[in-house]
Amino acid sequence: MTEPILAGRGVVKRYGDVIALAGVDITIGAGEVVAIVGPSGSGKSTLLHVLAGILPADGGEVFLGRQPITRMSETERSKLRRSAFGFVFQSGMLVAELTAEENVALPMLLAGTPRDKGIAAAREWLVRLGLGGLATRRPGEVSGGQLQRMAIARALAHRPQVIFADEPTGALDTKTGEETISALLTVAQETNAAVVIVTHDVSVANRAQRVIEMRDGRVAVRAAA
Ligand SMILES: Nc1ncnc2c1ncn2[C@@H]1O[C@H](COP(=O)(O)OP(=O)(O)OP(=O)(O)O)[C@@H](O)[C@H]1O
Ligand SMILES: [Mg+2]
Repeated sequence: MTEPILAGRGVVKRYGDVIALAGVDITIGAGEVVAIVGPSGSGKSTLLHVLAGILPADGGEVFLGRQPITRMSETERSKLRRSAFGFVFQSGMLVAELTAEENVALPMLLAGTPRDKGIAAAREWLVRLGLGGLATRRPGEVSGGQLQRMAIARALAHRPQVIFADEPTGALDTKTGEETISALLTVAQETNAAVVIVTHDVSVANRAQRVIEMRDGRVAVRAAA
């Protein structure tokens, strides 16, 4: 593995009486592509959200490089999230009222990039993902595959160190799903972003350098892909 970029140590997460994560140890290398698989309810999404600092952990530590994100305040964590992480989720999370270029520029604008620069960079990302002609369309005016590529452009445009994807192809047909994953992995590799991808899809897991299997809130198997 390359130098670790993200690590969880003994990560515990509870929802009331439900123990969703029962002490997870995981290390992701810089630029590495890791798939997280496992049965429904095994804790995959919870792990992703805790690693990404979206959900606080109830025990253990999460490190980005050497920074313990589990010890940061919510303000510090959200700042870090915006600069160091990108997200591609099944439901898109794009803002319906904004155009494609505005959606893609949004993380950059929130990080303080001037609007004209952000929009120009966003247009370049859209071209890279084959969406050059759709820069002024809104999320409701494109196909499912185009929507996911738009989400990928947005997740990558601020050059994050880690991209988190939860079932990014779940709503797509096989061919569109494969094209979406190819687009994600190509641009992630170009920017040396690590990719942590939760998936039920074997063909997606096969594209990862490493597959981690979750079972009952623990890491079950670490098999080479
Ligand atoms: N907000 C919540 N409140 C209570 N329990 C929850 C909540 N979210 C998840 N859980 C429970 O935590 C456990 C892990 O859920 P999680 O969503 O991480 O599973 P998953 O592996 O992503 O499943 P799936 O493949 O169905 O998406 C499950 O038992 C689930 O019912
Ligand atoms: Mg899930």
